[in-house]
Amino acid sequence: MKRDLRVAFLFSSHFRIMTLFNDYDFSGKRALVRVDFNVPLKDGRITDDTRIRATIPTIQGILDGGGSVVLMSHLGRPHKDIEKKPGKTLADFTLRPVAEHLAQALGKEVAFIEDAGSDAALEKAKALQPGQILLLENLRYYKEEEKGDRAFAEKLARLGDVYVNDAFGTAHRAHASTAVIAEFFPGDKKLFGLVMEGEVSAAERVLHNAQKPFVAIIGGAKVSDKLLILERLLDVADDIIIGGGMAYTFFKAQGGHIGNSLVEEDRIQTTIDLMKKAEGKGVCIHLPSDSIIADKFSPDAQVSSGINSEIPEGWMGLDIGQRACEMFTTVIRDAKTILWNGPMGVFEMEKFQHGTKCVADAVAAATEEGAYSLVGGGDSVAAVNKFGYTDKVSYVSTGGGALLEFFEGKELPGIAAVRKG
Ligand code: 3PG
Ligand code: MG
Repeated sequence: MKRDLRVAFLFSSHFRIMTLFNDYDFSGKRALVRVDFNVPLKDGRITDDTRIRATIPTIQGILDGGGSVVLMSHLGRPHKDIEKKPGKTLADFTLRPVAEHLAQALGKEVAFIEDAGSDAALEKAKALQPGQILLLENLRYYKEEEKGDRAFAEKLARLGDVYVNDAFGTAHRAHASTAVIAEFFPGDKKLFGLVMEGEVSAAERVLHNAQKPFVAIIGGAKVSDKLLILERLLDVADDIIIGGGMAYTFFKAQGGHIGNSLVEEDRIQTTIDLMKKAEGKGVCIHLPSDSIIADKFSPDAQVSSGINSEIPEGWMGLDIGQRACEMFTTVIRDAKTILWNGPMGVFEMEKFQHGTKCVADAVAAATEEGAYSLVGGGDSVAAVNKFGYTDKVSYVSTGGGALLEFFEGKELPGIAAVRKG
C-alpha cells in the first residue's frame, strides 16, 4: 500500500493522476500491451529472457482481472541490419521464439499472428476471449513503426480497448507503438504496466529523491557514451566512481602514460572540464588508481598489474586493480543510494572480471545494510546476473538506453505520452 501511494504521488507530480495498474478493472477488456521483447537471440534461441520474465506479472494481472491480452513489441533493427548484412532477412527477426518461450513460462497458449498491421490481426484480436493471449509479429517489419507514423499507430490502437505501456526499455523511442499510439486512447484508457511503474518509481527515487550519500558508479568503454549522464549526475550525486575503458581518457588528460589502453583523444579536454566542474560543485570523482593490464585483448593474454599513470607501451588496462577495488569498496559501503551503470572491466573474460565482481560485492553489502541500489544498462545487468547478485540489489532495470536517457534528464516519449491526459 505504501509503495502504491508513493507511485501515485510521483506519477501525479508532473502530469495527471494516473490509474495504477493494480486499481484498473480489466474485466471483459482487451488490453493492448506494448512490451519490450527485444531479447538477445543466438541461432533462434533466447540467451537472456529477463525482459520476458519481467512482463509476466503484468500479463497475469490482466488475465486474473478477467481481461484478454494483445502483446506487441519490436525485436532488433530489421531494416537497418538487412541493409548492412547481406543474407539477413526479415525472418531472422521474428518474435515466434518469444511466443513459444512466453507460453512455456506462463503455462498457457500464446497465439501468434504474422502480420501485425493486417485485418486478420484485428479479427483475431477481436475474437479473443477473457484469459487469452495474442502476440503480434515484430512491429519493426513495418517501417512506419520507427517513423512514428500516425496512421499506423491508429491502426494498432484498434487492437485494444485499453493501452498499457510496459516497455520501459523502449521508452526513449518516439515510435508508433510506444508513444504516438497513446493519442488514440482517452486518459482513462491508457496506463503503465507493472514493469513501467516499477522502473519509473525506482529511477525517480534515485534521480529526485536520493538519500545521501548518493554514489554513482559509471563504467563502460567510452566517455562519449556517458558524458551526458555524468554532467547530470554532477547536480545530484555526492561521489562518482569511474571505471572501465573510459577511465584511461581521464588519466591521459592528466598527463599519465596509459600504454595501449583505450582512449578517446577528442574527449581529453571534456574530461578536464568535467573534473573542474565536479570540483566546483563539491562532487568527488573517484578514478581507479591501478589496473590489471594485459599484452593483448584476449582471454589468453599475459597479465600483470600497474599504476594507471604508468602503463608500459604494448600493455593495456582491461580491469581495475586491487587498490582501486579497495578504494571503491570503501566509498560504496558508505552510500545510502547507489546507481550503477557499466562494468569496471572486460568481465566477460575471467582474467578481467575481478573489479566488476568486487564492485558488485560492495553494492550488495551496502544494500544489505540499508542502501537503495539501482543497477541498469545492459552490461552491468549482465554482470550482476553472471555473479548471482540479482536478488542482492534493490532494483535491476530492464532499460539500457532508456535508463541512460532518463538519468541524462531527458523526458522519455514513452512515459510522457501516457502521462499526458
Ligand atoms: C533496447 O534494447 O535498446 C530497446 O529495446 C530499444 O531498441 P533500439 O535501441 O533498437 O531502439
Ligand atoms: Mg538500444
